[in-house]
Amino acid sequence: MASNDFLNVRVASKQMLSKDTALFELVAEGDQQLPPFSAGAHVEVLLPGALQRTYSLCNPPQERHRYVLGVLRDAQSSGGSVAMHEQVHAGQRLRISAPRNQFALTPRATHSILLAGGIGITPLLSMAWQLSHEQVSFELHYCTRSAALAAFAPTLTDPRLAPCVHLHTDDGPLDQRIDLSQVLGKAQPGAHVYVCGPQGFIEAVLQTATQASWRSEQLHKELFKAEPISTDGDTSFEIEIASTGQIVQVPANQTAVQALTAAGLDIPVSCEQGICGTCLTRVVSGTPLHRDQYLTDDEQAANDQFTPCCSRAKTARLVIDLAPI
Ligand code: FES
Repeated sequence: MASNDFLNVRVASKQMLSKDTALFELVAEGDQQLPPFSAGAHVEVLLPGALQRTYSLCNPPQERHRYVLGVLRDAQSSGGSVAMHEQVHAGQRLRISAPRNQFALTPRATHSILLAGGIGITPLLSMAWQLSHEQVSFELHYCTRSAALAAFAPTLTDPRLAPCVHLHTDDGPLDQRIDLSQVLGKAQPGAHVYVCGPQGFIEAVLQTATQASWRSEQLHKELFKAEPISTDGDTSFEIEIASTGQIVQVPANQTAVQALTAAGLDIPVSCEQGICGTCLTRVVSGTPLHRDQYLTDDEQAANDQFTPCCSRAKTARLVIDLAPI
């Protein structure tokens, strides 16, 4: 089933949860079990047209017979979600990566507050299943613009989840709208906050939490879309491949990934916005100009890795190591 960390799977079912949200159930060929995953994990899906996109797994992590992905069709996106909606159907074979997790639950938290904006519910749903399974204290807040857009609301009526779920819609009565100050209250030692959704939603949660004295290590986020990056003033720089000494020129109007790909060097990418970490590459020398939202401030300050899909160089040359991190 697997080769080079990628798996062959079959789309067992595709179900429209709402006008724009589809649920894909992926199973292994035959009756094989799939590799285990942990709550908050995602897979990379290889799509027609050489697209590769990241989708969170939203089913209970105890399940080994399937991976379930929820995909919002976004016509403004660079094509991944539209390809999933229009070109991926039940019965079709797909290649996906093994599950990876950059948004894992913190073990032994005394309480978890899960805050979902729109389709950001998907990784938090698998967290809710996991916390419910472990009988650990949690609350899940699912925020959408309207009830019609709350595609996962029926799933959240499951008795294992419902007592811990709060639905909030922007167009509903005032008393059910999310009040972040109230939800986050005062920082609780031992508790952790997880947020996933649009950038503005994440920023509001993190700002409110910080004001309420939550410490940064208690706050966990997963972005779906990065803020636009200004490329005004970009200049060219050189990349040297540590293992071969090959020099690749990165012109001002290209990303490092584009220049490396044009030189025949293969860098895996997914979001191409600096949020997923798929392209993360080790830096041997030189100083990157970090533009990602994936690395922490401390990791960026170490300057020993960068995301070549969007980050550049402060120095004339970066020496990089192409071995997988
Ligand atoms: S491809 Fe996602 S961070 Fe570079």
